[in-house]
Amino acid sequence: MSVDLRGRDLVREIDHTAEELTALLDVASVLKRAGRQRVRHLERRNIALVFEKTSTRTRCAFEVAAHHQGADVTYLDPSGSQFGHKESTADSARLLARMFDAIEFRGHAHATVETLAAHADVPVYNGLTDTWHPTQMLADFLTMREHTVTSGLREVSFAYLGDARFNMGNSLLVTAAILGADCRIVAPRALWPDASVRAIAEAAAARSGARLTVTEDLDEGLRGAEFVHTDVWVSMGEPEEAWDERVALLRPYRVDVEALRRTGRSDVQFMHCLPAYHDQATPTGRHAAERYGLTDGIEVSSEVFDGPASIVWDQAENRLHTIEALLVATLGDLETGAIVG
Ligand code: CP
Ligand code: NVA
Repeated sequence: MSVDLRGRDLVREIDHTAEELTALLDVASVLKRAGRQRVRHLERRNIALVFEKTSTRTRCAFEVAAHHQGADVTYLDPSGSQFGHKESTADSARLLARMFDAIEFRGHAHATVETLAAHADVPVYNGLTDTWHPTQMLADFLTMREHTVTSGLREVSFAYLGDARFNMGNSLLVTAAILGADCRIVAPRALWPDASVRAIAEAAAARSGARLTVTEDLDEGLRGAEFVHTDVWVSMGEPEEAWDERVALLRPYRVDVEALRRTGRSDVQFMHCLPAYHDQATPTGRHAAERYGLTDGIEVSSEVFDGPASIVWDQAENRLHTIEALLVATLGDLETGAIVG
């Protein structure tokens, strides 16, 4: 199947059809297989990378992907530019669109990336906002497609345990709904996706046949799931004070060996967008050990994170291939069918 994504933004998953998202995964698979033999599609293109929040994977994936494809990048953080304080987002968008062929943005309010997209006549990519993390979804669904024992994403079942009212919970639910997968959001009711997000997902599921479950019940959510995902319990931009409440709510939803056992599957696989608090090698990990007695990781135990079920490094590598696919499909000269060949 060929779809034409040239000139398109990636701001929210729901702005894309299943065919478009699948085409991006197909392009990513081709680029990944090509390795160093890949053709360069983006010579002389320039991409602005605007980060209000910190990043390792997303920034590196955009930079390396651009370099693979012959494009150049310029990294802007708020302290080193006028963005976000001395110039409106709309004006920054108009300026950046005069100099760059595409703009990536990571930040707090989702409205900021929508404003950028509205005022820049070049592709705008959402590199994470409080509400959505669409480039992560490309990597997560490519990883599940690669690792599933089923015939494809419409047969895949996965559970997401943890804070489900932020970017990762929202994006996993809606992307599963678009692609027709079986998604279980397993979290305390206070941390469920907002009703507006659930409505978007339910409408998409009615079209795709996706099976969506939002539950507090671990057994209901985990039974039969082929993949178990989690994320940090307190996200970037949230106050430190959130930890006490979050730990109290989410301790039962921690991904440990017992959580994996509840799937009833010996072939269950563990995923995490990363970065993860899985040991005491970070200040936050040590603080959680002292304050909450979480001596063996916070949202995931070290036994699971470093164990045989974990596919987190394959998932992290796929950030590169999927972001490269996004750049090639939206910024190159070809429809996806011609790239895939
Ligand atoms: N998963 C992810 O977005 O990682 P970074 O915060 O390192 O970009
Ligand atoms: N929910 C996390 C995801 C990080 C990739 C955060 O926003 O910090």
